[in-house]
Amino acid sequence: MFLKEKEETDLLDQFEKETQLFLNRKRLLGKGGYSKVFQAKTKKGIEYAVKFIGISDRNGNKENARYKSRLALHDCKFSTSAKHKSFIHSFGYYKLSKYSYAIIMNKATGNFKTIISTFFKEQLFGNITTKILCYNKMSNSLIKFFFNQIINSMMFLFENDWVHFDIKPENLLLFNQELKLSDFSLTDLVPKIGKYELLSSGTTSYMPPEYYSVDREINAFDADKIDVFAIGCILFKLITRKDVINKDIKDSELNEENIKNEIKVSLKFLDNYFQKNKCDNDENRELLNLIIKMLNPYISQRISMKELIEDGWRKKNEKKINDIKEIHVNYYIKVLSEIQKADSLSKIEKRRKKFNLG
Ligand SMILES: Nc1ncnc2c1ncn2[C@@H]1O[C@H](COP(=O)(O)OP(=O)(O)O)[C@@H](O)[C@H]1O
Ligand SMILES: [Mg+2]
Repeated sequence: MFLKEKEETDLLDQFEKETQLFLNRKRLLGKGGYSKVFQAKTKKGIEYAVKFIGISDRNGNKENARYKSRLALHDCKFSTSAKHKSFIHSFGYYKLSKYSYAIIMNKATGNFKTIISTFFKEQLFGNITTKILCYNKMSNSLIKFFFNQIINSMMFLFENDWVHFDIKPENLLLFNQELKLSDFSLTDLVPKIGKYELLSSGTTSYMPPEYYSVDREINAFDADKIDVFAIGCILFKLITRKDVINKDIKDSELNEENIKNEIKVSLKFLDNYFQKNKCDNDENRELLNLIIKMLNPYISQRISMKELIEDGWRKKNEKKINDIKEIHVNYYIKVLSEIQKADSLSKIEKRRKKFNLG
């Protein structure tokens, strides 16, 4: 499926020659299931990100190569034609060979997964300043702030009947202090009529049980609930640091009933977590109830994106957050810059080793 090193080098050389954009091949900005993302620079030093999707039909697996390449082309077309402030901006794409593509994008500061893990590490191992900044905040006002950013990034997609189908922290990128959506290979237009078959799969930890049903068929008007479930999983992680569905679950155990059970166990854990951490006030109870509604294992009973956008708790906090947005944005930038200044990631690693924390 993947290209040989030489094939890849040749395509990247060809890309540089045709675009006059020069790639930093030593340090990747990121890596996905079927892509590598490079930092690129023009001769004048203007920076971009280039998502390189290199697919080969070696070993005669033409069907698979064709399928992956269809997803890649869809990603290219969607990201370069959908222009909105909630998406990471793409300037254009190149077809480099029969199955390989490159997309030229704005370079983001990082993905939301890195932000979350930096915060978690700081909570545990940070210096006194970053610890105070991160501790607790992650479990209340910052959660609301991030939640709001995620919903904002989804709003335009939802209003136009698109479902992303692969919402997860790795696909939310930070650009200009805002989270933007990216990675549109599975994004699909789902008009709210008839049935919809879930053809492609996203990422196990963020995929609801209906993916494992025998016919994989849902009512089209429920399709946005697939994204709602994934946002619920992100909220769950922000609060508990755990995945709703364990990503190490064995392939042989991936079936509808097991996934439903995993969710039920996780929801119980969340309930206990709120009680144990003395989060038992009205506002937090509303948040807990909202997450329970988002993670409902039964799609017909799960809250829809429209209901989520209109949810009382969210609206209340949206207003509050808009009122104090400046404070949150400043706080958020402060934490990030504090973390960068302290170069704490490497220090955290050292501290972790020193204290033998694995
Ligand atoms: N425009 C960008 N700027 C900076 N990093 C990016 C950019 N696009 C993607 N990345 C990084 O590369 C990773 C993989 O990109 P993604 O588009 O999600 O690929 P895949 O479709 O293979 O999952 C992302 O999680 C992110 O960390
Ligand atoms: Mg991705």
